[in-house]
Amino acid sequence: MKLLVIGSGAREHALCRSLSLDPAVTALHCAPGNAGIADVAELHQVDALDGKAVAALATELDADLVVVGPEAPLVAGVADAVRDAGIPAFGPSKEAAQLEGSKAFAKEVMAAAGVPTARSYVCVTPDEVDEALDAFGAPYVVKDDGLAAGKGVVVTGDLEKARAHANACDRVVIEEFLDGPEVSLFAITDGETVVPLQPAQDFKRALDGDEGPNTGGMGAYSPLPWAEADLVEEVMNTVLQPTVDELRRRGTPFSGLLYAGLAITSRGVRVIEFNARFGDPETQVVLARLKTPLAGVLLAAAQGTLADHPDLRWSDDAAVTVVIASHNYPATPRTGDPIEGLDEVAAQDAPSAYVLHAGTRRDGDAIVSAGGRVLSVTASGTDLARARERAYAAVDRIRLDGSHHRTDIAAKAAAGS
Ligand code: AMP
Ligand code: GLY
Repeated sequence: MKLLVIGSGAREHALCRSLSLDPAVTALHCAPGNAGIADVAELHQVDALDGKAVAALATELDADLVVVGPEAPLVAGVADAVRDAGIPAFGPSKEAAQLEGSKAFAKEVMAAAGVPTARSYVCVTPDEVDEALDAFGAPYVVKDDGLAAGKGVVVTGDLEKARAHANACDRVVIEEFLDGPEVSLFAITDGETVVPLQPAQDFKRALDGDEGPNTGGMGAYSPLPWAEADLVEEVMNTVLQPTVDELRRRGTPFSGLLYAGLAITSRGVRVIEFNARFGDPETQVVLARLKTPLAGVLLAAAQGTLADHPDLRWSDDAAVTVVIASHNYPATPRTGDPIEGLDEVAAQDAPSAYVLHAGTRRDGDAIVSAGGRVLSVTASGTDLARARERAYAAVDRIRLDGSHHRTDIAAKAAAGS
């Protein structure tokens, strides 16, 4: 099977790494990719937001499947353009991707499907904003309606900050605050059959102890030893299947990866957000535990034959990933700094720990930072404590001037609290 993966982050590196280990994959291409993906896939230049260009590249490469990683191309209709060219694509249509592209649309689908989520108002004018903030009280949750790379959400006890963020957006969703731990649960779907993956937890804030600004995600782990045994089944029945059924009923079936961001509140599971693609960095730990070859299940989702696919097989091992971010991320990250120590990790920590690249590029013989999140250091172990130790041992070998990472990824879960 010949595959083309679209994207350039650590999520796409994790996807490419798993696909490169699948014996069914005879050729692996990625566009635009990064310096790490270049080790497992052939890189091509493409404007990932240009559906015609992506479809033309897939045709030229004679690809059997195109996997679209990030949300922006999906919301721009890139998966549709690939399918229009007669090539199977893993990823939802432009219309179905609105589940991520518009928070107001997602709220409306959830209401129609009876999916539990925070109560909310969609606001446009300052008066509507004030009314909604007043109705819910502090802490305030204010979300830009459109795509904002994980940074459009402000959760604050400060009314003025909440108001300022709301008034800086064209349209906002203001909603009730959800207490309780967060869980990311992904499902692969062909628009009808829904296959859940293993749950993971992401660390969204920049600093230890969940302090600092929201980021795209600073680390993740799986499994979740503290979660109820029936969590996946409950989310399947109350969230994932009803949402997929509702979108099919509307004539805009969702195929690809449905990401449910959940809060486990004192009153039960609630959806915080949907995404229309694999999460980053959760994918790094979920795929580290998946034993079933990846290409077949992605192709089955793209071709509408998931019901015939054998059950997924999972490793009992735990996995932890720690993101190394560049100086000043998430504000205005500095790029172009050389990264050292990658060979040492490959020589001393593989295969139980390895480095997935996010914002990196090759500069002569050197690999340099090229984005905010630079590397996603991933490790497995018989339990979370062992996986953590291995991940942080590998992190300590990496040298990137001015970089920062969290030191508490999976710490509480590993300690059993
Ligand atoms: P989102 O982009 O919707 O996932 O929001 C980013 C982060 O903001 C989430 O991971 C949560 O940590 C936080 N957040 C979003 N919505 C809520 C809410 N209703 N209550 C509490 N925290 C929230
Ligand atoms: N880890 C959060 C996201 O992928 O949106």
